[in-house]
Amino acid sequence: MGVKVVVEGLSKSFGAQTIWRDVTLTLPPGEISVLLGPSGTGKSVFLKALIGLLKPEEGQVVIDGVDVCSCSDSDLYDIRKMFGVLFQDGALFGSMNLYDNIAFPLREHTRKSESQVRDVVMEKMEMVGLVGSESKLPGEISGGMRKRAGLARALVLDPQIILFDEPDSGLDPVRTAYINQLIVDLNAQVDATFLIVTHDIGTARTVPDNIGMLFRRELVMYGPREVLLSSNEPVVEQFLNGRTQGPIGMSEEKDAGQMAAELAELGKDQGVPHIVPQLDVSQGLPRRTAVQRRQDRVMANLGSLTPAAQQEILSTLTVQEKQRYGVTDSGVVTRPPNQRTESMAGSLSTEEVAKVPAGAAQGQRPSPTPRTSGAEDDAFWAPGESVSEQPAKRGWFGRKRGGK
Ligand SMILES: Nc1ncnc2c1ncn2[C@@H]1O[C@H](COP(=O)(O)OP(=O)(O)O)[C@@H](O)[C@H]1O
Ligand SMILES: [Mg+2]
Repeated sequence: MGVKVVVEGLSKSFGAQTIWRDVTLTLPPGEISVLLGPSGTGKSVFLKALIGLLKPEEGQVVIDGVDVCSCSDSDLYDIRKMFGVLFQDGALFGSMNLYDNIAFPLREHTRKSESQVRDVVMEKMEMVGLVGSESKLPGEISGGMRKRAGLARALVLDPQIILFDEPDSGLDPVRTAYINQLIVDLNAQVDATFLIVTHDIGTARTVPDNIGMLFRRELVMYGPREVLLSSNEPVVEQFLNGRTQGPIGMSEEKDAGQMAAELAELGKDQGVPHIVPQLDVSQGLPRRTAVQRRQDRVMANLGSLTPAAQQEILSTLTVQEKQRYGVTDSGVVTRPPNQRTESMAGSLSTEEVAKVPAGAAQGQRPSPTPRTSGAEDDAFWAPGESVSEQPAKRGWFGRKRGGK
């Protein structure tokens, strides 16, 4: 189901130029996360740091118990095999047809026979909708098809983590919609951990489970999509709603024309609710198993989210889900999630009462809920990992610089 990626206090500079500092976040296994930010904020640099192509000056990137930033070359070699990367331009070899481009990692890194290679290549080409284009050269096809081919190549070694560098860049709105749907469908099929970096508002609003935002050298916010999509933080609100008014100036963001086009396409005006539904998988495909894991995790941490995000999350639960998690529409915990036993019936222990977010029902920002040793927390913060020794300090929600 993909692996967890834990980024802790990561800082990167080139000479005197700080790209970003103290970035802390966790990519939950199998979920889709988006890192959003204006052009030039270091999104591509961040992806390169995750795969150990660039060395941050401070911090850790821990995958499977190994810190990518400080591990040996041989460990790094093994870790890299867990990644598939879709580079911004597809990064295909111009003189090779699509089949050979996609077969390339298999021929380089495995001992598969040509007939085994063919099976894998054709399977991945089918997954991305490219069957029939095997003999085409990259120069003969559209940008959208090049991205698909790059994606098929990223998939051939069955990666547990897939990084997408601006999968939507250079595509028209229709092709962007197709690639976004493809990403969601692929997540359902391969259940790997996805990280997409983009500056596209539509992608950020519809594709991910979690959103982070880089701005002016910091990770301003990171968490479940509902938190950012309902946020009043000026930078986040401006960006996710594509407003020209706000802290983000034109010089560091897309030009006015592009922004206006995106807004028109989203049918966005100030009266429309912030949160549009997340894309679902195409008919005929399996459900995304990450959806249930994420729901369990988010519900276990509900009290630590903003009231607006809590309301949004609660409004999407079915009656059965509310019962299962022991919540009402106001978010009050009526019983500990998934832990009810006969002896608990009818009463709340002190610990359970402590889980009820103070002020949640009144619509105030709740004070951070102390982490209890709930089953969900333990499941997420598996014991024995070097990074999980102080779970209280390392919530997967990330933190603001200087924050707690
Ligand atoms: N290898 C490098 N050496 C020096 N500066 C770099 C290098 N790679 C990226 N940068 C700088 O880092 C900044 C962020 O770049 P990048 O990650 O490409 O931004 P984004 O992907 O968000 O548009 C830019 O100012 C860029 O010039
Ligand atoms: Mg980039």
